[in-house]
Amino acid sequence: MKQWGGRFTSSAAPSAEAFGASISFDCRLWPFDLMGSAAHCRMLAHTNILTPRDAQSILDGLGIVANELAAGQLDLSEKWEDIHTRVESRLGELIGAAAGRLHTARSRNDQVALDVRLFARAAIADEIDALIGIQRAFLDLAGSNMEVLMPGFTHLQHAQPVLFSHHMLAYVEMFDRDAARLLDCHERTDVLPLGSGALAGVPYPIDRQMTARLLGFSRISLNSIDAVSDRDFVAEHLAALALIAMHLSRLAEELVLWSTAEFGFVTIDEGYTTGSSIMPQKRNPDLAELVRGKTGRVFGHLFSLLTTLKGQPLAYNKDLQEDKEAFFDSVDTITASLGIMKEMVQGLQVHVETTGPSAVSQFALATDYADYLAKKGLPFREAHGIVGQLVKTCEADGRRLEDLSLEDLQAISPLFESDAVSLSAHDAVAARQVPGGTAPDQVRSAHTAAHSRLAERTAQLARLRAGFPSLETLLTRPLDVT
Ligand code: ARG
Repeated sequence: MKQWGGRFTSSAAPSAEAFGASISFDCRLWPFDLMGSAAHCRMLAHTNILTPRDAQSILDGLGIVANELAAGQLDLSEKWEDIHTRVESRLGELIGAAAGRLHTARSRNDQVALDVRLFARAAIADEIDALIGIQRAFLDLAGSNMEVLMPGFTHLQHAQPVLFSHHMLAYVEMFDRDAARLLDCHERTDVLPLGSGALAGVPYPIDRQMTARLLGFSRISLNSIDAVSDRDFVAEHLAALALIAMHLSRLAEELVLWSTAEFGFVTIDEGYTTGSSIMPQKRNPDLAELVRGKTGRVFGHLFSLLTTLKGQPLAYNKDLQEDKEAFFDSVDTITASLGIMKEMVQGLQVHVETTGPSAVSQFALATDYADYLAKKGLPFREAHGIVGQLVKTCEADGRRLEDLSLEDLQAISPLFESDAVSLSAHDAVAARQVPGGTAPDQVRSAHTAAHSRLAERTAQLARLRAGFPSLETLLTRPLDVT
């Protein structure tokens, strides 16, 4: 008999039971489900809705269920429908009638909304942790290659020389915004829905603030209908993860390109490449490709949830059960991808002997010659045209701009003087002395600033985690400690 089976004469069709069950995936919510139940039980005892005796017996029973679940000893087959029902039925076997009082002033609708929020909060912390990890890897790589030159690209064509470290720090910026987005999303996740009941609130004198405090939530939800039907905190979380996936995919693509013989900028550590079953010489950047490939599912999950939500009338509908697989998979995919890419960045070998010469090839200093003339007073547009002609001549006779003699230069503009002969990539980067530019001094201070920002993020993460409750404490602390 189902917990809701009182008004039914026959039991659910086996096919319907299997189709409707969520336990195969929501079982991973069990630690959060037990935290929520323990906090709810403590609050019910404090408000005299439960006797201390029943409450204690519920907490003790939940402790046993926790151990059984941790040890993988509970049957989690589909007949149990979902993790909430499974925990409650096991509790009943262990402690008898008192188990039936735990669900006083609670519905599975506010219970599942709570569990998903607790899961989301923990996931945000893990994701920020992983973002900090990859940012550190980039800072280290930038630090040990601080003055290495490489070509900067636009349209994947050589554009202007940049420092390799500057390029690496670009990723630190992206991942920093990603962390900020997740922290912002945490603001709206950090809300207790419990107490909303099925949809209308509950007819008991509960203390929602106490439950919120026990579970480490900053606020309680302000509308019971919204609280049980809202999953926009999951949607924005998925959107933040989609952006991380996009950033990771661009990085993966650069590693794939840069490790080709054609580029030869980097070598990916052997441990993160694979061979071919037919071509003995191959070393393929499979893991980077896979990270790029996984972007598809992470983008897809965002759309799957948005679509799931869009047609639902308020309040709870069973459609909402479809939030979980998408959410879990995106969280797992992103934390794993950040981890593997961090290791790849840590093991990256940079080929200075290739990136340096490549930094000036394909007339990458042309802008600097134009800027030279512009600084002598020529309008930049005219300077651009003159250097364009220079490039054309050089291209025709296979020379580089740096090969041109003073006579060659002066033949096209008398403004050129001896300091214009053989400009170098070093000159080009050193000239970009603007905040955010690629000049070595600028990159060095950006590197230092990124270091301190990361230290601040790490402290933020520690504060966030310090606010999370411990299941152990919620289960074992004496009942009179509120
Ligand atoms: N498994 C359900 C879900 O994930 C739990 C809530 C069920 N509530 C209900 N009224 N059927 O959404």
